[in-house]
Amino acid sequence: MQENTNVLFTNAFEEDIYNGLTKYPKQLSSKYFYDANGDKLFQDIMKMPEYYLTDCEFSILEKYKEEISALFYKHEQAFSFIELGAGDGKKTKILLEYFSHKKIDFKYQPIDISQNALDLLEKSLNQELPNVTVEKLQGSYFDALNKAHIQNDVKKIILFLGSNIGNMLHHEAIDFLNSIGDYMHSEDLFLVGFDLKKNPQTILDAYNDPTGITAAFNKNILLRINTSLDANFNLDAFKHWETYNPETGTAKSYLVSTKDQEVTLKNLDLKIEFKAWETIHTEVSQKYDDQTVEHIAKSAGLEIVTQFSDEKTYYKNYIFRKQSSNI
Ligand code: AVI
Repeated sequence: MQENTNVLFTNAFEEDIYNGLTKYPKQLSSKYFYDANGDKLFQDIMKMPEYYLTDCEFSILEKYKEEISALFYKHEQAFSFIELGAGDGKKTKILLEYFSHKKIDFKYQPIDISQNALDLLEKSLNQELPNVTVEKLQGSYFDALNKAHIQNDVKKIILFLGSNIGNMLHHEAIDFLNSIGDYMHSEDLFLVGFDLKKNPQTILDAYNDPTGITAAFNKNILLRINTSLDANFNLDAFKHWETYNPETGTAKSYLVSTKDQEVTLKNLDLKIEFKAWETIHTEVSQKYDDQTVEHIAKSAGLEIVTQFSDEKTYYKNYIFRKQSSNI
């Protein structure tokens, strides 16, 4: 149990929700969007025509799988293919299928916090690509990487797709890349998906779909608080609002209270007041340009090996290695 201003918390979720709702301006972390309902809503988002990110990354992997494989399998050296936040592995299967077809010597190690997601992924891979060796690693990225690190000293190819890095602020992204670099040796590679700056309207449309799936995805955090913490958020009294700053490349999501209201979170013994039009900041979805990627990579002790873009230059997959001076 942890203590904070006389409140006892039984887990990090409770503490984060308490701290986020009692600070000004209010803030909740998008990492709590993802429970079974949130996972389903995110799958729906990835199928939306406005959410271009998934199709762009899919097309890059499809188009450049040969070049990517050649880099990964240089000197025909066997490797561990470690995916951070594997989910349903839909895009990764493009590479897995190609590796399998080319008889490349590798082992796939998907990392995910959700055991259920990993079990489903393993099952589908056993059916679709029975020759691929799958070694599931359940847990947070770094706990799981620790296990993978101890287990082997073979070459590592690490994968972080889906613009997941965009849900971090720049300093968090640098810390994250730097920590991944700690697990890398000179020959290891790190493939990361970055969503790029583009027409601001295209970005706003991707996070503001007319069907309201993205709004439901954001509001799922309120639903989760209602269920887990015996709270009474009225979801209809909050409006999802998206902003995009074309200068910084930062898209931000908010839930805006449409009236004065009070919400009770019984399990935290907490009452929260909202003024009309007060905000809860829920998510950052950072968009990048080449200079910014170069800057964060360099600051994290990584160097760019190469990059691949989709036809519209909406999205890029970068391949990094450790800066030679850091090895
Ligand atoms: C998971 N992440 C990269 C998504 C994004 O684009 O920021 C989550 C998302 N939020 C709204 N739509 C999709």
